[in-house]
Amino acid sequence: MTDHVLDAEALRERAVASLITARDRTTLLTACVGEPDLTAQHSPLMSPLVWDLAHIGNQEEQWLLRAVAGHEAIRPEIDGLYDAFEHPRAERPSLPLLPPAEARRYAAEVRGRALDVLEGAAFHGTRLTEAGFAFGMIAQHEQQHDETMLITHQLRRGPRVLTAPDPEPVPLFTGPSEVLVPGGPFTMGTSDEPWALDNERPAHRREVAPFRIDTTPVTNAAYQAFIEDGGYDEPRWWTADGWAHIRRNSLTAPLFWRRDGGQWLRRRFGVTEVVPPDEPVVHVCWYEADAYARWAGRRLPTETEWEKAARHDPAGDRSMRYPWGDADPGPEHANLGQRHLRPAPAGSYPAGESPLGVRQLIGDVWEWTASDFLPYPGFRAFPYREYSEVFFGPEHKVLRGGSFAVDAVACRGTFRNWDLPVRRQIFSGFRTARSEVV
Ligand code: AVJ
Ligand code: FE
Repeated sequence: MTDHVLDAEALRERAVASLITARDRTTLLTACVGEPDLTAQHSPLMSPLVWDLAHIGNQEEQWLLRAVAGHEAIRPEIDGLYDAFEHPRAERPSLPLLPPAEARRYAAEVRGRALDVLEGAAFHGTRLTEAGFAFGMIAQHEQQHDETMLITHQLRRGPRVLTAPDPEPVPLFTGPSEVLVPGGPFTMGTSDEPWALDNERPAHRREVAPFRIDTTPVTNAAYQAFIEDGGYDEPRWWTADGWAHIRRNSLTAPLFWRRDGGQWLRRRFGVTEVVPPDEPVVHVCWYEADAYARWAGRRLPTETEWEKAARHDPAGDRSMRYPWGDADPGPEHANLGQRHLRPAPAGSYPAGESPLGVRQLIGDVWEWTASDFLPYPGFRAFPYREYSEVFFGPEHKVLRGGSFAVDAVACRGTFRNWDLPVRRQIFSGFRTARSEVV
């Protein structure tokens, strides 16, 4: 056992705190707009906010009240409405959803009972209760939907309703643009992180050839250079699918960008502003990230390379929980948890850098990798196939590292996110890599 493995009482306190933090965020994201904005569909890609709210409560009821504690269903007739697989997002607004006040009441009732269950629950016995897994899973689930709801806010038209302080300004980053990650094996994934989800398991060794990786995510200034160089008009930078996609949809810049005379503007949570040159680029799809990398004479890192850069400690030849070590993320390490509503400038958070000096692997922007979303050797779906297993395959690309919009409870060096290569309403950016010629 390593010393980061907490005892049951510490995990129970952590579960209570994580559930409360998540609910505070859910409440804020659903209290800052009126009823019409809660029930409207702001984009066909997204659910109405009121669907997310009741879905959060319904998942919590299913896993904490019914599966863990054996309660009867509170409202069995609503399960189908909030099953993400029964109803695609586009049809959710036309369902007989609980109106906002009822959705709030339902989620609050579930939460009250869940905290009672948590107080007396055994933290051992079954895989669901071992180390409080189900409670950690549900806190992560709510935080994932809090990120989803923040995406809905970003897509929503209308004046600003959310505010947050900006990240600390930092001097322009002048360190090396890339670092060499020496070749050799490392341990990928985890078998002992108590709340790691099924797709992060089990830990296994992987051989990695030497490679170089960007010290920071690709910035808006660097991405603008690609645009100004005609990157979107040059088929040789794009995969065949990527080229067809950007032509069909007339894509010429990241989502939410607009050219205004000589400069680029972007819309961010209801405010239009000049695109800040030093910030990591966000709202690009996998095809755009991949094309930029080819234009730069580089490539996207594989998921394996990304995790080795983020977790391997060459001094101890072991994998750490985070780039900076095993300590939980603090505000000095990473931009997480919607503390800011934007990425921090490239080169921020020196305390969060990896042993080799790679920065901002955690937080700021989700980073597209070259890899398809596939199971690790020895994968077992748990506790339900629809979390990960049904998404495995070549149609989804892996994103790593979390964004400014995701909470620390749902972000680890091993955490895996995935999406279609066309998606860019998510808080997605990237960094590039190249193979080391030996
Ligand atoms: C892991 C972010 C792709 O939002 O579709 C939420 C998380 N799964 N409810 C998603 C999730 C079930 C999932 N992602
Ligand atoms: Fe969900």
